[in-house]
Amino acid sequence: MFASSSTAVDAEQSGSKITYRHLLSPQTLNVYNPLRVIALIDSDAFYAACEQVRLGLNPEKPIAVQQWQGLIAINYPARKYGITRLMSVTEATKKCPELICVHVMTYREGSREPGYFPNAKPSTHKVSLDHYRRESIKVLRVFQSTLPEAEIERASIDEAFFDLTAPVREEILRRYPYLRDVPSDATDGMDSPLPPAPVIDWTGRGNVLAIREGEEAGVDGQGTWADVALALGAEMVHKVRQEVHKQLGYTTSAGIARNKTMAKLCASCKKPFGQTVLRDAAIPLYLNPMPFKKIRFLGGKLGDALASAYDAKTIGDLLSVSKEDMQQQFGEESYWVYDILRGRDYAEVKERTGVKSMMASKNVRPAIKTFSDGQHWLRVLSAELSLRLEEARDLSPAVWPKTLVLHIKQGFDAPRSRQCPFPFTNALSDEYIARLGERLLRELVGQGELMLKDIINISLGFAGLEKGEEGQKSIEGFFGGAGPAAKKRRTSERGTPMPEASRPPTPSRSSSAPTSGPTLSHKCTRCSRVLTAFAPGVAEQSTQLEALKAEHEDYHFALDLQAADGNLPEVQEVRAPVGREKKGKPKAGKRKELDGIAAYFQKR
Ligand code: CTP
Ligand code: CA
Ligand code: CA
Repeated sequence: MFASSSTAVDAEQSGSKITYRHLLSPQTLNVYNPLRVIALIDSDAFYAACEQVRLGLNPEKPIAVQQWQGLIAINYPARKYGITRLMSVTEATKKCPELICVHVMTYREGSREPGYFPNAKPSTHKVSLDHYRRESIKVLRVFQSTLPEAEIERASIDEAFFDLTAPVREEILRRYPYLRDVPSDATDGMDSPLPPAPVIDWTGRGNVLAIREGEEAGVDGQGTWADVALALGAEMVHKVRQEVHKQLGYTTSAGIARNKTMAKLCASCKKPFGQTVLRDAAIPLYLNPMPFKKIRFLGGKLGDALASAYDAKTIGDLLSVSKEDMQQQFGEESYWVYDILRGRDYAEVKERTGVKSMMASKNVRPAIKTFSDGQHWLRVLSAELSLRLEEARDLSPAVWPKTLVLHIKQGFDAPRSRQCPFPFTNALSDEYIARLGERLLRELVGQGELMLKDIINISLGFAGLEKGEEGQKSIEGFFGGAGPAAKKRRTSERGTPMPEASRPPTPSRSSSAPTSGPTLSHKCTRCSRVLTAFAPGVAEQSTQLEALKAEHEDYHFALDLQAADGNLPEVQEVRAPVGREKKGKPKAGKRKELDGIAAYFQKR
């Protein structure tokens, strides 16, 4: 079924040789198993749904989430009016006067918690996604409790991958117990093929993508055991989605397929509140006409390079390229591109372990010119960090960060950072964090009130979040822990002087060297600005890069809106620093000068 299938893995994927070993042996429970079942569940119009549920609004009403003057999430009833993301509130309400716009929560200086503050402005407030993060965790909890046997990987704030292979295997054996034992007359023992699969009734299992042009999807119920596995997986996904809807009120959509890439792709076929099954045999009809840029990782530089090297647009256009040719042009590692184009992907679904770092970041416009400006932003960032640390501790009470890190970027100067230990306190407050942050800032900019150079980005973060000592946990228990009681106590302490024991310590000199070594960066496709994470350590850099990207998107968002209002702001500020990044598409012949396929990704 796939072009040039010669390896054992390819033979497995054809579904024609599914054996007792694939079903019964624990060793075959891996990414190459032909009975593998992967799903992606994504929440519909997630932020809008969170606001609809929070406010108890009728889900049939058009609702949008607003950030400053623009829209960031639009529910499906509002989409019917042609309202899209990035549209301004003014334009959207012209299209639909009854549109309910809810402004996203913000942090403002002086408030312990983010809130739905009137007159939130980008110059003084910072967007808070805390409510959505909390709701996202609730959804994850429902996933985990409904499907305890599945491996679940949270992929973003509103989506998760599921590896259902193990529970599906159990279910196959429960429903078809005759498969539990290899028949005594089977000549190849465990390697004998399974008997023909039963006819599948796809009713109620979702939208089943067609194998042949003109086929009424899902009508052809005769398939392989791999299709049976997908059908059982689809039942589980349906159940978990119903549970999320019943318990939390959120509708979700899902894709069920053999691997992560295919599950993710087909999850958006039936939005909202629908699910789609992609059987192996349906992959070519679904995939071949698709522009390959729609595939995760092929949308950026690598996609551009493929398009120009092979004059190709769709996946089908690239199927005639041999593995050898691709590897010659794009390096050894490009085998995975070759596989993805054929619907194959062996990436594992991995449960993420707890966070190791967290960072609050702000691209400050107008820039920070005085120490007092700096103090303002440090308080805003500290409020966010304090809340996020509290939440992390609600989930895992002994977690505490080793260090507090401050990064600043002044003009085009290399970014600088300082860090210091973050001692345990049972009276965590924004002030505790902010005062420590201020000392770090003093170390970086000196004693004067006026900055020698404007600060254009300020990031404050925790690194080395780890479970603390047992002793610390018990002391904390003695004082009331990190649970609701402690929260209440902390809230009542707001504004009162910090007890001596919980005052922040002096930053340590030894830990304040500027960052060096490799950095993660991201080039904005719109303005070519290179966002570079400069925090020490890969995990922390990736957290920082995400924070920087989110901030940068906010910036474009604001630009777009102002442009839409005919009020174009200055754009010089976002130009790429000269000489930082090469311009133009890579040419096919020059490929080898680059470091294989890695050259098309952002990690440097
Ligand atoms: N989001 C955002 N900015 C983006 C992309 C996404 O703020 N550039 C937010 C959206 O507001 C959204 C959430 O992240 O609610 C999840 O994004 P996504 O799944 O892409 O969109 P949804 O709004 O959930 O809509 P859909 O039903 O199409 O998934
Ligand atoms: Ca979504
Ligand atoms: Ca999503």
